[in-house]
Amino acid sequence: MDMETEQTKQMQLQALIFLCTITVASSDILPGSALHASEPARAWPSPNNTFSLGFAPTKPTTNPPTFVAAITYSGGVIVWSAGHGATVDSTGSLQFLPSGNLCLVSGSGIVIWESNTADHGVSSASLDDFGSFSLKTGNVSVWSSFQNPTDTVLPGQNFSAGMVLRSGSYSFTLLGTGNLTLTWNDSTVYWNRGVNSSVDGDPWKISNPRQVLNFSVKLSSPTLGLQSIGILSVSDPMLESPAIMAYSSDYVEGRDMFRFLRLNGDGNLGIYSSARGSGTATMTWAAVPDRCQLFGYCGHMGICYYSEYDYEPSCECPSKNFEPVDENDSRKGCKRKVEIRDCPGNYTMLELNHTQFLQFPAQDPAEASGSQEVFAASSSSCQMHCFGSNSCVASTSMNDGTRHCYIKSLGFLGGYSALMLPSTSYLKVCGPVLWNSPNNGKTKSNYSRLSVSVLILLVLASLLGFLMFQGGLWLWCRGNGAKFGRPLPCYALLEYASSMPVQFSFKEIRRSTNGFKDRIGAAAAGGFGVYYKGTLTNGTVIAVKRLEGIERGEKEFRVEATKICCTHHLNLVRLIGFCSERTNRLLVHEFMKNGSLDSFLFTAKENPGKLLSWNKRFAIAIGVARGIRYLHEECQEPVIHGDIKPENILLDESYNARVSDFGLAKLLSPGDNTGPASPSIGGTGGYLAPEQLANQPATPKSDVYSFGLVLLETVGGRRNFEVLAGTDGRKFSEWAREEHGKGNARGIIDERLLEDDWNAADFDQARRVVAVSFRCAQEQPSLRPRMGRVVQMLEGAMEVERPPPPPSPKSADELCLFLT
Ligand SMILES: *[C@@H]1O[C@H](CO)[C@@H](O)[C@H](O)[C@H]1NC(C)=O
Ligand SMILES: *[C@@H]1O[C@H](CO)[C@@H](O)[C@H](O)[C@H]1NC(C)=O
Ligand SMILES: *[C@@H]1O[C@H](CO)[C@@H](O)[C@H](O)[C@H]1NC(C)=O
Ligand SMILES: *[C@@H]1O[C@H](CO)[C@@H](O)[C@H](O)[C@H]1NC(C)=O
Ligand SMILES: *[C@@H]1O[C@H](CO)[C@@H](O)[C@H](O)[C@H]1NC(C)=O
Ligand SMILES: *[C@@H]1O[C@H](CO)[C@@H](O)[C@H](O)[C@H]1NC(C)=O
Repeated sequence: MDMETEQTKQMQLQALIFLCTITVASSDILPGSALHASEPARAWPSPNNTFSLGFAPTKPTTNPPTFVAAITYSGGVIVWSAGHGATVDSTGSLQFLPSGNLCLVSGSGIVIWESNTADHGVSSASLDDFGSFSLKTGNVSVWSSFQNPTDTVLPGQNFSAGMVLRSGSYSFTLLGTGNLTLTWNDSTVYWNRGVNSSVDGDPWKISNPRQVLNFSVKLSSPTLGLQSIGILSVSDPMLESPAIMAYSSDYVEGRDMFRFLRLNGDGNLGIYSSARGSGTATMTWAAVPDRCQLFGYCGHMGICYYSEYDYEPSCECPSKNFEPVDENDSRKGCKRKVEIRDCPGNYTMLELNHTQFLQFPAQDPAEASGSQEVFAASSSSCQMHCFGSNSCVASTSMNDGTRHCYIKSLGFLGGYSALMLPSTSYLKVCGPVLWNSPNNGKTKSNYSRLSVSVLILLVLASLLGFLMFQGGLWLWCRGNGAKFGRPLPCYALLEYASSMPVQFSFKEIRRSTNGFKDRIGAAAAGGFGVYYKGTLTNGTVIAVKRLEGIERGEKEFRVEATKICCTHHLNLVRLIGFCSERTNRLLVHEFMKNGSLDSFLFTAKENPGKLLSWNKRFAIAIGVARGIRYLHEECQEPVIHGDIKPENILLDESYNARVSDFGLAKLLSPGDNTGPASPSIGGTGGYLAPEQLANQPATPKSDVYSFGLVLLETVGGRRNFEVLAGTDGRKFSEWAREEHGKGNARGIIDERLLEDDWNAADFDQARRVVAVSFRCAQEQPSLRPRMGRVVQMLEGAMEVERPPPPPSPKSADELCLFLT
């Protein structure tokens, strides 16, 4: 009996010990354990094997092999590594010492990395099924891989202000304001995104409009988190609900996908998706979609570009005056063959067309002012300013209407070259310039030599020469164009000589628009064609207009399209290029994230989030006026828009007004290309000037009339031809004109504006805009001011000219007729 009890007891004890061993082995690791690089198959797994901590060979494999101590997701995707990817050879080990310290130790006993937890009384360690490895005192975690991330954030991990992800010289941080930043060399911030602009730059897209109001609230302790369904958001006690920063392209779909956020070796922040066991991950969102915009992608003085049909950026040196730092890795950057200091007074400026040096203010203001200057200048004076300055190394001149000239004098130079970039850069080199051999699909560069003594002479001579060359080329092209039908090579030359737009092939456009799938702006119908959204190989989002009803021949189309392309202004939508093949005529524009003004002015009732503040409306009014002034008065050849209406006023991501669809009437009308647009083409009822309705040709003054109606709508928030209740069936414009005459400007203003913090200064501005709108919408063209004066009146630089007395009943009738 006694013996039997003894035996049972012993068996029970054995079973207990056995059970204990199982528990310890499956979840907790005890101090004194170690993993060895020589046995990579041995690892510490998480309870259900989703993650494991162990040695993984580095990729690409080296000889002899090296290893990192890493937490990997099922299949081998590394999500954390000891010492930020520190490598050991096969004699290395990861030691969980009896003191409680976790150390990565090389074969010779050198501690490469440690957790610094020796005196915290650590009693065990474990890896959980979310991928966090923690060192614990009892049940309390004193150190965890989630608190000490390397380059990756996993779902369930809280990334708070003060934490850093690092990859090479790049780092990612969350600021106390909730901003996400990417920084190069701990000095240059090249990406900075605040909580109130979601990934597509549209604060209104954030589900709850109340939330938008909260964004001006100061955050107290923001944390960034990735939801397992692929949504990246910032949470804070001050926010009612998390502010969404990004969606992965496959979010919500594919619930079995494992997603993570990573700062990759290129310096891009991305959301990745990985299927269990696959060992590979695909990027499903990128902070910087255009990889050439990643600071330092091609190293110091390297130029980043996309060769045709290639999504991978390539790097090369600006000219043969430079050589790669590393022959085998073009991304390491370039160095000069002869330093500038070794050729005093005998250097020249290398001219790089369609190229910019990436400009990001450094965080340290002292460095910022030392290394970069910005001012407005023509491109030739931008070049000469750098040539004449001892400290200047390079300059970039923007041809986008701003005429900004950036001077770079010290520090890092990162170049980006693409046909669609509206900028020219100049780089100081010791002469003579040695060409890069011609490169397929690559932006061409040319150079000009300058020498102090003959500077002025050369400038004059080259100006003359250029004019003659261009003139000759035009004549030659025009002559040959007809003969050969498709004057392609000649056209390319012309394009090159005058920084002209890109000519796309139809195939290329079909590919970038995904076969014309994504139609945009249904409201813009009737304007000669339909817009489609697309993406170019470098990630630029474009709006492609497929024109209908073309009567012009291919050659004339090219000439007209080229003219439009040359109109660069901040308040005009830029035409990047065009395509003219057989019967296909397409225009490729920049894509404007916020769509057209009408959707903000007239549909706001169902969507109160879309209400534009008075400040924004006023800025838009002035922006549109400047854009039209540029078309009328500052272009080489005046451009009459002919169809000004809210649908043709687009808003970019910062709500800058950008006039679109200009020059189209001329592009489409057959025959003579010198006369003004024929009124039968283009123009939209409700916005046409009386003379356009009477079939007279459109003039700049007709644009002024249409613009006047747009101004009124911007203040009033309703269509000029809308009939309001209680106004005796009169149209809004008509009623407003009378109220304005009576001095009741307040009644005209959109009542939704009057609700919030409307003040006296706003009221003055609004009254001025109303007065200008009626000055513009005069029936008599000769009574309407020029666009230049309109801008001055809006800006307040000029008194609004006294409007003529309210129209007599007769002319009011006529006006009524015209507006019908
Ligand atoms: C492992 O555990 C995690 C967390 O509980 C869970 O999300 C995951 O689906 C589990 N995986 C498997 C294969 O059971
Ligand atoms: C992250 O933060 C949330 C909310 O503050 C908290 O519930 C959760 O436990 C935290 N997760 C980790 C891994 O610390
Ligand atoms: C990075 O910054 C350090 C100082 O902050 C500077 O000395 C170093 O030259 C920089 N690296 C490059 C490549 O410019
Ligand atoms: C935060 O990001 C926004 C852009 O989204 C930027 O305008 C703002 O200056 C940033 N704030 C800080 C403190 O960097
Ligand atoms: C976004 O936040 C900035 C400051 O962080 C504020 O100035 C701006 O008005 C906010 N924009 C919106 C649309 O809430
Ligand atoms: C200046 O450069 C030219 C080559 O472009 C060279 O022939 C000439 O000797 C140089 N002059 C001086 C003073 O270095």
